[in-house]
Amino acid sequence: EDTEAMVKRPPVVCVMGHVDHGKTSLLDAIRDSNVIDREAGGITQHIGASVVEVNGEKITFLDTPGHEAFTAMRMRGANSTDIAILVVAADDGVMPQTIEAINHAKAAEIEIVVAINKVDKPSANVERVKQELTEYELIPEDWGGSTIFVPVSAHTKEGIPELLEMILLTAEVMELKANPERNARGLVIEAELDKGKGAVATVLVQKGTLHVGDSIAAGSSHGRVRAMMDDKGRRVKTAGPSMPVEILGLNDVPNAGEVFVGCENEKEARSFAETFISQGRVNMLADTKSKNMSLDDL
Ligand code: GTP
Ligand code: NA
Ligand code: MG
Repeated sequence: EDTEAMVKRPPVVCVMGHVDHGKTSLLDAIRDSNVIDREAGGITQHIGASVVEVNGEKITFLDTPGHEAFTAMRMRGANSTDIAILVVAADDGVMPQTIEAINHAKAAEIEIVVAINKVDKPSANVERVKQELTEYELIPEDWGGSTIFVPVSAHTKEGIPELLEMILLTAEVMELKANPERNARGLVIEAELDKGKGAVATVLVQKGTLHVGDSIAAGSSHGRVRAMMDDKGRRVKTAGPSMPVEILGLNDVPNAGEVFVGCENEKEARSFAETFISQGRVNMLADTKSKNMSLDDL
């Protein structure tokens, strides 16, 4: 990797936590707080990921990855996420899926920022949640630990600006970088077959820049990028590191969690995709290993 060409990239964030603790509500509140979205006309195009701008800095939010897709990505050795917001309802505390989420994040080496949600409720008990999480080595800074806790309410929006600031601070410390000047590589976030448009895939660019017209392979599918749309539903010609885009032009529907790579030409893209088919769809990492390559080499 050419370290000279590495530049700062936005953090990719997901929201995790127990059922009904407010993951969807919190994401909605965060998207609502985004002035740029509102100026664009209010209706946010939904592509399974969205970009929020805070003080001129971007944050990419992935919709809660179903644990399946999350696990599939990890099996391929590819982490989609830099930071997980662990949502814990202040009136309910740590529950089984809270613990599951902590284990997932730790195994994937994802930074955890804790959002204690529903603090507007009379039965909210922030201190109890902090206490419960110490058992899982998530210890607040004021108790001598290093985990960031932010009390929030998805309903009143209290704490949302602080949460976004803390995400940017965490990202700053992580020094997230990527080279935008190379062929794109990234992950398929979701994909489906549209009767009119054919295969429609939302991809997250992790390295390089994806352009309209690029030849790409995504899992066992391949094609040329015919059109791209950002999370606001705007047509775009390029997408750099940490940007999610919906793309048209693949010959088949890839699986969520599969890796995509930008190729030199259509022939290379087809051959890449055929390798995956012959090796089995799941075994992309095994395939690269057999060539003595890691995902990082792609
Ligand atoms: P699943 O996706 O089903 O796991 O749930 P979720 O974690 O996405 O929770 P969701 O956002 O659907 O919220 C669950 C319930 O809690 C809904 O009735 C919300 O209105 C409510 N809720 C979410 N956030 C808050 C909050 O900050 N305050 C209060 N009072 N209620 C909240
Ligand atoms: Na719910
Ligand atoms: Mg939800």
